Amino acid sequence: MRATDIIIKKRDHEELTEEEINFFVQGFVKGEIADYQVSAWAMAVLLNGMTPRETTDLTLAMVLSGRILDLTGVVDIAVDKHSSGGVGDKTTLAVLPIVAACGLPVGKMSGRGLGFSGGTLDKMESIPGYRVNLNTDEFKKQLKEKGIVLTGQSLDLAPADGKLYALRDVTGTVPSIPLIASSIMSKKIAAGANAIVLDVKVGKGAFMETLDDARKLSDLMIQIGDLAGRQTICLLSDMNQPLGHAVGNSLEVIEAIDTLKGGGPNDFREHCLHVSAHMLIVGKRANDLDTGRKMAEKAIADGSAFEKFRVLVQAQGGDVSYVDDPDKFPRAKFVEVVNAPRSGWLAEVDARSVGEASVSLGAGRAQKSDPVDHAVGFVVHHKVGDKVEAGEPLFTVHANDEAKQAEARAQVLAAHVFSDAPAPPLLLFYDQKGA
Ligand code: URA
Repeated sequence: MRATDIIIKKRDHEELTEEEINFFVQGFVKGEIADYQVSAWAMAVLLNGMTPRETTDLTLAMVLSGRILDLTGVVDIAVDKHSSGGVGDKTTLAVLPIVAACGLPVGKMSGRGLGFSGGTLDKMESIPGYRVNLNTDEFKKQLKEKGIVLTGQSLDLAPADGKLYALRDVTGTVPSIPLIASSIMSKKIAAGANAIVLDVKVGKGAFMETLDDARKLSDLMIQIGDLAGRQTICLLSDMNQPLGHAVGNSLEVIEAIDTLKGGGPNDFREHCLHVSAHMLIVGKRANDLDTGRKMAEKAIADGSAFEKFRVLVQAQGGDVSYVDDPDKFPRAKFVEVVNAPRSGWLAEVDARSVGEASVSLGAGRAQKSDPVDHAVGFVVHHKVGDKVEAGEPLFTVHANDEAKQAEARAQVLAAHVFSDAPAPPLLLFYDQKGA
């Protein structure tokens, strides 16, 4: 078998066999198939798709490329969450401490930024000292003792996904339904989850731009979850505008801390309460959404969710004084408030443009090996549906380079579309699938 023939077969719209998929994945992980060949194959998959059978085989091949974590004896039920990627999506930072404070231990392995979307690991690394490379023994120990873990994908779990994810990020091959489904589900299955809550983002700032595609992705992931014996639920949530106000690594950590302390933007808080309630249901801590939501609200109100975040940061070597005093996070050199050029109702705040501008400022990567700048990004002050007066603050740019600042300012200004007539606010959730 030759890698080239497998690439050609996909290029020519043919269906790959299980054997071919296994050969390709194993060869990639062993370093016998080069990055450029895998990149070409990923582009062929993006353009020509994969059948559900191929996608399931790809997922299982990626799971079997490494170990499978067994959390029996560590937790009574292993619940995991994952987002399909968005702009300003700092949900994990708030939801994990919330559910852990409600008595549901949760350990999660997260990823880095992908394309225009941010990554939880990049955000958490804004906290000096915070370790994202726990090994599986450390993961289990911390989960048992502290009830909360948030780390990077352990290198020995689904290593094929780790390698492919990094390649896709820089080769324009992220927004493929089979590649996203296999990437997410291989990680979740390998990490030992019994029940998985998937936050499937839909809209301009998501990899799934239409509700139809988001439903297809959800159905595929639920099907893979069923086959692997994992309860899977998909919440289809809006990503036409950034979630919350902050976009950029440390800016998002600060907003998550604020939310855990009972403040934060309304949309972000609502989103987190809903996701938390679902996690508490699949984790058998709540019988229904209303109870789950009330438990989550209480964990914020009584300070226990914030305290869990402190425990998490401390357990993973982070400097907790930044959590206690977010003013300590280094500020970008240039902080500019941009005012609204006119009055009107906001009809659009294009999340993709804001995400791309944030990557251009340095919050994400153009190449696999690029470092990220934790201080840069944006705070958008208004949501779609808001009435805005000319001259009032529209957004704030945080930049470390003046030329990039000017470009990013223009891009984010253009991302704000005004209407003379009232514009309806966007829904937070569009649909739900599974379980
Ligand atoms: N999140 C993932 O883990 N993988 C993808 O491919 C996209 C989003």
